[in-house]
Amino acid sequence: MTVSHPSGVSILDFGSQYTQLIARKIREAGVYCEVFPGNAPLDTIMSIRPSALVLSGGPGSVYDEASPRPVPGVLDSHLPILGICYGMQLLALHDGGTVEGGSGREYGPAVLDPVPGSALLLGVGSGLTAWMSHGDHVTALPPGYSVSATTSSIPIAAMENHSRRRYCVQFHPEVAHTVSGAQILSNFLFSLCGILPDWNMAAYRHEAVEMIRAEAGPEGRVILGLSGGVDSSVVAALLHEALPGRFTPIFVDTGLLRKGERESVEETFRGHFGMDLVCVDASSRFIGALDGVTDPERKRKIIGRVFIEVFEEAAGRVGGVTHLAQGTLYPDVIESVSFKGPSATIKSHHNVGGLPERMKLGLIEPLRELFKDEVRNLGRELGLPENILGRHPFPGPGLAVRIPGPITREDLDLLREVDAVFIDHLVREGLYDSIWQAFAVLLPVRTVGVMGDRRTYERVVALRAVTSMDGMTADWFRMEPERMAAISSEIVNKVRGVGRVVYDISSKPPATIEWE
Ligand code: XMP
Repeated sequence: MTVSHPSGVSILDFGSQYTQLIARKIREAGVYCEVFPGNAPLDTIMSIRPSALVLSGGPGSVYDEASPRPVPGVLDSHLPILGICYGMQLLALHDGGTVEGGSGREYGPAVLDPVPGSALLLGVGSGLTAWMSHGDHVTALPPGYSVSATTSSIPIAAMENHSRRRYCVQFHPEVAHTVSGAQILSNFLFSLCGILPDWNMAAYRHEAVEMIRAEAGPEGRVILGLSGGVDSSVVAALLHEALPGRFTPIFVDTGLLRKGERESVEETFRGHFGMDLVCVDASSRFIGALDGVTDPERKRKIIGRVFIEVFEEAAGRVGGVTHLAQGTLYPDVIESVSFKGPSATIKSHHNVGGLPERMKLGLIEPLRELFKDEVRNLGRELGLPENILGRHPFPGPGLAVRIPGPITREDLDLLREVDAVFIDHLVREGLYDSIWQAFAVLLPVRTVGVMGDRRTYERVVALRAVTSMDGMTADWFRMEPERMAAISSEIVNKVRGVGRVVYDISSKPPATIEWE
């Protein structure tokens, strides 16, 4: 599904770790953009009718045969171009300048001195930090270019050919460490390219609804696996608006969910939105299938298989279904088209992959063009409550991967109570939103304690709270000792059967966020 965009930017990805960040920053400035592989055909790059091109950085050297290059014609385009790092070097070579390998790589902060009169760096003060990450750099300007900025280590840290609207920076304006990076991007987009900041979620909502209607056709019936997480909730709200009466969200209660989860999904989607929600209580099937299973990957496989069975049966009962909706996001799409190829970061966590092919349904993915923060904004537009939009991620296999070893209904109930006390505390004390993900893990360990005059022999729970940008890496949340003490005693006092609470201080890597 592609929505038409009035003015956009095509970003060519040459393999930089920051390419997604460039896209996010441009979108945050209110401008639509898409990422294409650096060697994408010209008509693909032009398919969004861009008003400007951005050439990303990349790990290679322009002198290395194997380094990615744009197809002929791209660097001769009459569109304005911003070249970043490797992108600057590509443009410099193409336009007749000289690029040389440095004595070593320069990585980290550098002090930037803009040259007065630079159009690109207008309003950027001198002596500010710019983030560098490069080996080669430009040593002689191409004809028609002037220096826009210098640093103590490189005399051409930025350059521009204002009459041809070509602007280049050796540093990375997209990273937060570059002071005034957002100003530089805004100068390019608005003052130099004359683009209007017309990308917003109100407009997207309207167009996405039209696209869904076109894709489903006049007779289409759409189902969605609704988990209550941000992505599937936003998809549900969009579909409900687009196809009233022809959309059925299916919520599968696996018995592995958090306390009150099913009730809250029913209240929001059936109660508040009035959707024709199908709720399937399949907890006995899941718990039965997991009986005695200890290996985490086997747990995941079993849960994935049972989910598909239950979901297919529920879809069969809906009848006449033609399409399946999914909450695929733009980062997943970029991952699969990027230069690095389907990257190693794709998780084995996509537990229900293959569902649409199996069920021979058309696929509707209305969030394919959006980043997570845009999905949240779209959710706000659609009137979804903040407790859904700001909710921590929750794994598909649920509490099954938070009880190392075999799971039982009793243990699931115990863990649900502990988790609820922990999370309620964080919400009440205003900490929930500073944390990427927080949860409790029920350990298969008993431990001795004393309560009053009695010796106890009860369970241990571990609490995990992490900060993260995307779940790929994470650090443990630095919680005040007094806060930990309060949460620990609240849990032991409120939940019978727990005698000891520990706090997980492992980062990812080497540990993962989940315990299994
Ligand atoms: P890890 O534990 O790999 O988790 O550091 C990274 C993120 O992925 C979530 N996660 C899963 N999500 N199915 C999912 O849908 C899974 O099997 C799964 N395992 C982990 C985890 O909660 C964290 O947000």
